[in-house]
Amino acid sequence: MTTMDTLEAMETSIAMRYFKPDPIPKDELTRLIYYATRASNPGNSQGWEFIVIDDHDIKTKIGAVVKQAMAPVFASRPQGLEGVQERMYQGAEHLANNFASVPTWILGCARKIYPPQDPQDVFMYSTIYPAAQNLVVAARAMNIGTAFTTFQHMAEPLLREDLHIPDDVHLCVFIAAGYPERKFSKVRRKPVEEVLHWNGW
Ligand SMILES: Cc1cc2nc3c(=O)[nH]c(=O)nc-3n(C[C@H](O)[C@H](O)[C@H](O)COP(=O)(O)O)c2cc1C
Repeated sequence: MTTMDTLEAMETSIAMRYFKPDPIPKDELTRLIYYATRASNPGNSQGWEFIVIDDHDIKTKIGAVVKQAMAPVFASRPQGLEGVQERMYQGAEHLANNFASVPTWILGCARKIYPPQDPQDVFMYSTIYPAAQNLVVAARAMNIGTAFTTFQHMAEPLLREDLHIPDDVHLCVFIAAGYPERKFSKVRRKPVEEVLHWNGW
């Protein structure tokens, strides 16, 4: 069992886009999904599903589509970005271009099932995102790096067909996971005072 402080894990769960080649053992991946599914969710409807992809051939096929689809996005990125933003683009480009080298990709899916009498998109996303963030923080505590992505949009037809995903399952988030090649560090965010309002705006 890991003993990492929960608050430290939250504070240092940076998007990790560079990974060692070592595979994550299946029992560790299962633990990640266990912690993901401890998350709060609307009415305890638990409309989440996770597809863990660590097969090299499947990753290669998806990676080729993602790389091609993302190329224009990276080619047309804004010029003259400052440090953090430029590093984000470089990291995202590295991730897309080296898709198959990422040890594991976790496709977070959701079913639109809540509320049962009138299911809404908003509840679908508010089911999978808390679970995904739980996964990110649990991974950090287990010394596994992760990066949230929306790369699934680039390869949706292929993913649906090759992974036999039912039509009523929505593909919501694609998380890269592996042992970190770079150091974890504190995330940089706006000061709390800028976004915190007491008893009104
Ligand atoms: C909904 C969502 C979508 C994201 N999509 C991508 C993505 O497609 N590619 C990527 O490399 N990072 C993606 N990210 C990660 C963010 O770029 C990252 O969290 C942000 O730049 C702050 O960096 P940090 O978390 O390392 O501090 C996404 C994050 C979220 C929450």
